[in-house]
Amino acid sequence: MAVTIRRATRDDLDELLDLREAVAGEGVWIGAQVPLDREGDRAKHLDTIERQAAGTSAVCLVAEIDGALVGSLAMHAPIGIAHLGMNVADGHRGQGIGAALVEEAIEWARGAGVHKLELEHWPWNHRARALYERFGFVEEGYRRRQYRRKDGSLWDSVVMGLVLDEDAPGHPVRAGEPPI
Ligand SMILES: CC(C)(COP(=O)(O)OP(=O)(O)OC[C@H]1O[C@@H](n2cnc3c(N)ncnc32)[C@H](O)[C@@H]1OP(=O)(O)O)[C@@H](O)C(=O)NCCC(=O)NCCS
Repeated sequence: MAVTIRRATRDDLDELLDLREAVAGEGVWIGAQVPLDREGDRAKHLDTIERQAAGTSAVCLVAEIDGALVGSLAMHAPIGIAHLGMNVADGHRGQGIGAALVEEAIEWARGAGVHKLELEHWPWNHRARALYERFGFVEEGYRRRQYRRKDGSLWDSVVMGLVLDEDAPGHPVRAGEPPI
């Protein structure tokens, strides 16, 4: 099984939205819920693809097997912090496709001068957690009853971050020192 990771183009929009809709339809992995606002999502994906083509503030990657789109990863980094979201199609998970996408995304981020990656996952998403930890992401917070779902329930989320720039000076006041 040969997986190709490449930048998304406008021609991928329908398959990108189909994948997002299918994963959202599973109901337990991503924030998006069905029915999706397909036109709104199309506009957002197109914007990401256009930003990607124009410069360094966004990237939209796809994973392909035999010409079929089986995974995607998007990041926006308007102020050097890239928020990561990704999907791998049911039936293709646990086979390293997510890892291939994240690896490419981190390479893009380093080249784009991004200083930090951030993301959120649901507390039970152990596969996502394992993938992110493998690349050095660490938990930065647990958000209790954070997101309202369409059925009215409130779901917790876990925030993770990966610092890429450890060399820039930190904030001016060190722990234990008096405030400015
Ligand atoms: C999360 C997701 C993107 C990961 O992509 P993937 O292709 O399945 O990931 P990989 O195969 O590269 O890696 C999965 C890792 O989870 C581990 N894993 C698999 N099943 C697991 C489980 N049930 N519990 C814990 N770890 C698990 C694998 O061993 C692997 O870790 P390793 O590389 O250290 O061995 C993908 O599963 C997915 O799209 N899921 C549904 C949507 C989703 O959750 N999106 C992310 C929202 S934050």
